[in-house]
Amino acid sequence: MPVKKTTKKSIQSKTEKVKKPWGGRFSGGTSKAVEAFTESISFDKRLWKYDIEGSIAHSRMLGKQGIIPKKDSRLIIDGLTRIASRIEEGRFVFRQELEDIHMNIETALIEDIGPAGGKLHTARSRNDQVALDLRLYLRDEVRETICLLAGLKAALASLAQRHSGVIMPGYTHLQRAQPVLLAHHLLAYAEMLDRDSARLAESLKRINVLPLGACALAGTGLPVDRKYVAQLLGFEAVSANSMDSVSDRDFVLEFLCGASILMMHLSRLSEEVVLWSTEEFSFIGLPDAFATGSSIMPQKKNPDVAELARGKTGRVYGNLMGMLTVMKALPLTYNRDLQEDKELLFDTVDTVKSVLYVLAQMLPAIDFRTERLEETAGEGFSTATDLAEYLVKKGMPFREAHGVVGGAVLYASNKGKRLEDIDLAEYRAFSGLFDRDVYQVITPRASVAAKKSQGGTAPSEVARQIAAHKKKTGLSPSRKKGK
Ligand code: ARG
Repeated sequence: MPVKKTTKKSIQSKTEKVKKPWGGRFSGGTSKAVEAFTESISFDKRLWKYDIEGSIAHSRMLGKQGIIPKKDSRLIIDGLTRIASRIEEGRFVFRQELEDIHMNIETALIEDIGPAGGKLHTARSRNDQVALDLRLYLRDEVRETICLLAGLKAALASLAQRHSGVIMPGYTHLQRAQPVLLAHHLLAYAEMLDRDSARLAESLKRINVLPLGACALAGTGLPVDRKYVAQLLGFEAVSANSMDSVSDRDFVLEFLCGASILMMHLSRLSEEVVLWSTEEFSFIGLPDAFATGSSIMPQKKNPDVAELARGKTGRVYGNLMGMLTVMKALPLTYNRDLQEDKELLFDTVDTVKSVLYVLAQMLPAIDFRTERLEETAGEGFSTATDLAEYLVKKGMPFREAHGVVGGAVLYASNKGKRLEDIDLAEYRAFSGLFDRDVYQVITPRASVAAKKSQGGTAPSEVARQIAAHKKKTGLSPSRKKGK
């Protein structure tokens, strides 16, 4: 926005003649600069469906309670329904001078149906209205996010199933540690996503509470029926304290927090995609459809999707920090600072959904270089622990076995041999417990097969995980919009 000279005269000359819904106690107009600074319509217009849904329920309650005549309630509901169609069809003009979505819709209603429209805001404030809209919006978005999570989990489970026999190196400290099944590695991410879904589903309980009826902060002297409104809007509870109702944004923070943990998981998965697609690892090949090239280096094929997924984690963390900072030390009750919640929330919702969607598309298209994975799985003395467990099974204390095998690894490494290249006589020099059967336990496949402990990487355990993930279905689908 260009910065204009803001002399008193220039502000005066730019005062807006449109009557504000709150304009009664004002004799002068609002400066254009203030309108531009305080508006939220440019971003809160995305709440329009929820604003209308809430207003229809509120109006129904006002009519039922006799707070406004039933016929006015009907007029209001018909008018709001017409406005919904106009917005849907792109025939509604959002006006900045009307600040936000709430006043845009209310003003349009009054323009459409006349004075009856002025009765809609009875026993209501924008403070409880905006809290309501945001809860309705987030309830839908959380459900949608859970569905997208289910899609990504399904993609991981299918990949795991498709490559169920493939062995790869498992890492600690990014050093080859022990052989694992590729499926096991992939399903570790499915577990993370399961917890993310559970966290989001759990937060629905706290989102699904009706704030409407709190009015500005103190409640109302009019005989409202909050339980009825809650029922109409599908809320499980009615908020207990009107002051808390209009100033609480814990539900937003909780989502940003859950989204941050989720993005952290997705960034780890993405990082592995980046790493595995390097020439150095060569564990996977990226499909053309999910890679991009360089404008100067003709040979390049870059993992930009995974990089962006990793990078977007930063903005989600930033949004969480931003929101925590907006809330910090806010005195009760509503303060205009709270308007800053929306862009942080909307951006987080959009970011998380887009990353979940694109990763679910990309994962099934990845080409796993199974030969390379299998080949590297046995390198780096990765079955040394199996060798120690072999001695333990023959009665040697583990700490002693660790030392014996450590010596054998050092010996083999100095000779440039692998564990399977050492002959029995050499092994026996380290311990008399070594026998011919030692060669059966030191292959990567035997190593993996042996890990039958619950949750281990043995094929039988991994098959159980795959089955469990396949059985879990997504949450109930999102409610139809605009209901
Ligand atoms: N646009 C405002 C927001 O997003 C709506 C509530 C305004 N209330 C008020 N009393 N100024 O928070």
